[in-house]
Amino acid sequence: MSAVMKPFADALSAQDARDIGAYYATQEAGAGVADDTLVAEGPYEGLKFYEVGQKLFRSGDAERGIPACMACHGPDGTGNPGPAYPHVAGQPSQYSQRRLEEYRAGETGYTDPRLFNIMATVASELTDQEIGALASYMEGLHPRANDYAAADAPPAPAPATPAAPVPPADAVEEGQPATDLEADAEAGPVTGS
Ligand code: HEC
Repeated sequence: MSAVMKPFADALSAQDARDIGAYYATQEAGAGVADDTLVAEGPYEGLKFYEVGQKLFRSGDAERGIPACMACHGPDGTGNPGPAYPHVAGQPSQYSQRRLEEYRAGETGYTDPRLFNIMATVASELTDQEIGALASYMEGLHPRANDYAAADAPPAPAPATPAAPVPPADAVEEGQPATDLEADAEAGPVTGS
């Protein structure tokens, strides 16, 4: 992404750079990539664009009454079980941006606007910059804990002839459970970071 963005980053405003980033990101196959252009001015000066979104997504902004997005959508943006809190990770940033703008505008044709109104309240104070940054951050969000869990998982059924030397029996008894616990502990906190 940065190679693509570099020629544009200096010349264009944050808005333009973000739109172009979003455009290229949607051209890529597979998972999206968050926009890492540095913010040149304003309250978030010096942060990477997606970091503005990351901050809000994880912590909200208590002073302005903005809740942490992850409280409802989960730290990795995969939402919560059931229909109420949708999956928001990995969607094209332009889509998420539109949605957040709709929520902020507060108008909907839904016959039952209850869920819409939850997000309308959440989004009412967001600036254009924050909406763009959140959309970019969410595009780059992947359910990484799952990847890590898969990577740490013990290899599938052992081959008939073990390739590695088998450790002494007492080492297995004492060592093995601790290793497993560690692997579990590692998989947890990585979620969404
Ligand atoms: C109190 C719970 C709650 C919080 C906090 C919350 N959301 Fe939501 N969000 C919802 C609900 C409920 C919906 C579904 C609304 C609907 O049906 O229109 C939703 C929908 C969305 C959607 C649309 C998803 C789609 O695929 O159309 C996006 C994007 C989104 N939220 C982003 C955010 C962001 C960014 C934040 C933090 C600034 C946030 N949400 C905070 C509950 C929440």
